Amino acid sequence: NLAAQRVARHTLRLFGDPVAELGNPRWHADPYPLLRRMRERGPLWKSLSGTWVATSYDVCSALLRDRRIGVRHADGRPPYRWPGPVEPPWVNTFLEQDPPDHTRLRRIAAPAFTRAKMPAYEARVAEITAALIDRAPDDFDLVSDFAGPLPITVIRELLGIPAADDAVFARYGQVAGAALDVSSVRQLNEVTEVSIALRQLFAELIELRTAEPGDDVISTLVAALGEDRLTAEELVTTAGLLLLAGFETTVNLLGNGVRLLLDHPAQWRALCDEPELAPRVVEEVLRYETPFQYGVRFTHEPVEVETGHGLVRLPADAPVMIMFGLANRDPAVFTRPDQFDIHQQRNTEHLAFASGAHYCLGAPLARLEGAVAFKTLATRLPGLRRNGSVGWRPSSLVRGITSLPVRK
Ligand code: HEM
Repeated sequence: NLAAQRVARHTLRLFGDPVAELGNPRWHADPYPLLRRMRERGPLWKSLSGTWVATSYDVCSALLRDRRIGVRHADGRPPYRWPGPVEPPWVNTFLEQDPPDHTRLRRIAAPAFTRAKMPAYEARVAEITAALIDRAPDDFDLVSDFAGPLPITVIRELLGIPAADDAVFARYGQVAGAALDVSSVRQLNEVTEVSIALRQLFAELIELRTAEPGDDVISTLVAALGEDRLTAEELVTTAGLLLLAGFETTVNLLGNGVRLLLDHPAQWRALCDEPELAPRVVEEVLRYETPFQYGVRFTHEPVEVETGHGLVRLPADAPVMIMFGLANRDPAVFTRPDQFDIHQQRNTEHLAFASGAHYCLGAPLARLEGAVAFKTLATRLPGLRRNGSVGWRPSSLVRGITSLPVRK
């Protein structure tokens, strides 16, 4: 199955299909020339593989908010079938549900992640951030010693997962993150192993929180289970989604952000002089190096889209890639879009957290973690500098780095 997929992708690549070309490792360090080619083909077009591609801000934004377009196929089938023997707990979650299931499950998880909850978390996020900086030696790796452990610890504590070995969790995260585009049997076996371990962990936690409820998110889910508001499998996949979304995304915001700041010394100095700029840095990093480059949707009926360059008719059950990263560099909406500039006034919200029904539930938490991290680094380590070359994530979906050696 995987081999057949690889051959199909390779053939499409030979015919110059940019969607298939996205998987080519040569674009991992710098996908932007390829992405520019995709933009030049127009705001909404059909690739050789049959997938439609939305590239402009306005079209992406309109499609994300259109109720005739969902994350599942038109007949209700899930967007894809997991190819391995054990379904990972982060597959078939509410991110892959349409209403009414999506609405029901999102509502159960939502209260812990509202903006109003953030001030209560801020002090703990600052404490974890400071401890990581204290612990780091003079030469350290920004990703494995800082950007990775910070969100892992935060989401682990919010879910009420007792202090465990964060290095084990970091590995789960890497395996799960890489599983977003599985391409080998070895990788599939690794994901199976991690899926079994996480399912076991959640089973133990559910037992624990049924006996001893706390004020953590798993306890909230367990209470909802008791009221028949979700099934036991939905509880596990909701916990899996929150855990994974909690640590596989913010790591890229932090890694991309520090790399960009250190590569733009004037902007790093501006932040050191005025640490209150940190929330602006977060928004500009998310816009300029969007951690999730795209999301996929399916039309549930024929849909006509006014693209600004004519009407495009999408048939029913058409798969559409919504290119968040391209929307965020659309020159029609963002001034000097290909410049990283924390001082540039940007009046439109980027699509790094998507939009519409599936707008990132963790956006307030990600923003809090990003702002605290950038502010604390600039305050505590103003002399921070790069000390080696960057490792890029081997993915066209997730834009991020795997390593960045730095010196205090
Ligand atoms: C959904 C990005 C951090 C939880 C999403 C989506 C995006 C996204 C693009 C929508 C995907 C789609 O529509 O196809 C990000 C980025 C983050 C981040 C860039 C960090 C910088 C977090 C954190 C959490 C989280 C910290 C913690 C709980 C979720 C959940 C969903 C989601 C639960 C599904 C929402 C739904 O389907 O209704 N995120 N996320 N995210 N995110 Fe985040």
